[in-house]
Amino acid sequence: MTKSSGSLFVIATSALVLISVASSSSAQQRKTETAGKTAAQAYKNIQILKDIPADELVPSMQFISASLGVGCDFCHVEHAFDKDDKKEKQTAREMMTMMFAINKNNFDGHREVTCYSCHHGSHDVTGTPMIAEETSASDHSRENSASETAHNTNPPSADQVIDRFLQAVGGVAALDKVNSRVQSGHIDFDGHQVPIEVYAKSPDKRLSVMHMPNGENTTAFDGEQGWLSNGGRSAREMNAAENAGAKIDAELNFPQNLKRMFDQLRVSRPEKIGDKEETVVVGRKQGQPPVKLYFDPQTGLLTRAVRYTETPLGRLPVQIDYSDYREIGGIKTPAQWTLARTSGRFTIHIDELKQEPIADSKFEPPAASSNDAGKPR
Ligand code: HEC
Ligand code: HEC
Repeated sequence: MTKSSGSLFVIATSALVLISVASSSSAQQRKTETAGKTAAQAYKNIQILKDIPADELVPSMQFISASLGVGCDFCHVEHAFDKDDKKEKQTAREMMTMMFAINKNNFDGHREVTCYSCHHGSHDVTGTPMIAEETSASDHSRENSASETAHNTNPPSADQVIDRFLQAVGGVAALDKVNSRVQSGHIDFDGHQVPIEVYAKSPDKRLSVMHMPNGENTTAFDGEQGWLSNGGRSAREMNAAENAGAKIDAELNFPQNLKRMFDQLRVSRPEKIGDKEETVVVGRKQGQPPVKLYFDPQTGLLTRAVRYTETPLGRLPVQIDYSDYREIGGIKTPAQWTLARTSGRFTIHIDELKQEPIADSKFEPPAASSNDAGKPR
């Protein structure tokens, strides 16, 4: 196994996951040893989260960090995640016990209250309501007109919203003709620009290759299993929660399959993106977190998708904003999308798109590579 040096910064773009685990090379390294184990078996000093799958430990930590608005170092000393040197880490253990008890005693064991319910992005919890802000007359009139329009218009059904979207991007007949797509462009993150290629095949295969200075970063989903590799090093398999997210990202490339992705689709309350009120459709599938889809009521186009990564402590949101829809061969596809997580965001810009066949083998992980040692860094 190769060691990742320095701070680990994996950007997984095809599954559209940005995993940024600062200085957790030891945690990542461990990840390959975690398959099928509990957290207590794979890690050194687990007292509360003993029985969760080992590969859900770090995502749970990301959930805690996002809920409190802190970095890993708020509770951990550098390079020794197992040490209990910080009082905050011990407090966090007590908080986990409290959270599990609240849910057990009040909500039939359903995970209704999470760290975020009380912390709202801050380690400092306030129990005091806010002073009212000054309100202007125009605020009131805007509110009134908004509620009037809400009363006057009959909300469309989820089927109608999706049919309109399918129409807006070219119609089912045109969409059904395109089963694969090769896109190239660049990705913007942290002020850097890196070339990227994205391969997609209907219904749910996807591969992205980012050409980093130190080698390729690859993220792929072959329809069943996803995998990641960075800097040209050997691939690691995605865990169950990552697979579920990668599948959704892959499926969203082919709108003709949208209705088949879910067991149930329902229109929810409209929500604003910027100044615009968007139609929201919530897709549900047995045993999975919901997916929220936002449609522009004027153009009918999909502008945002929000999905969630399940962790034992709560759900981490992943938001994808689609824009710059361009028409090629009678089909409109977004030439730009931004993926945002609690840990950061990046934007992909597509310059060139080809609708051409891709072999299934393209999406399979490379045979366990023993030759990465010789790869240039
Ligand atoms: C608010 C406090 C807090 C934050 C922030 C936090 N952790 Fe933890 N971490 C804990 C606690 C508590 C445990 C032990 C859990 C238990 O005993 O069940 C732990 C355990 C771990 C372990 C297992 C170590 C071992 O070998 O026993 C790893 C790895 C870890 N955390 C990584 C991270 C990473 C990576 C981050 C940042 C994304 C992070 N943690 C952020 C509180 C925190
Ligand atoms: C029911 C509300 C509630 C929930 C749920 C909750 N907390 Fe807290 N938490 C608090 C309060 C209130 C304080 C402040 C206590 C004080 O000031 O002494 C606090 C303090 C903390 C602190 C110490 C912060 C500091 O500034 O030193 C940590 C760390 C912490 N919580 C972690 C967590 C984690 C991790 C979770 C989820 C597993 C969680 N909390 C869930 C209410 C909550």
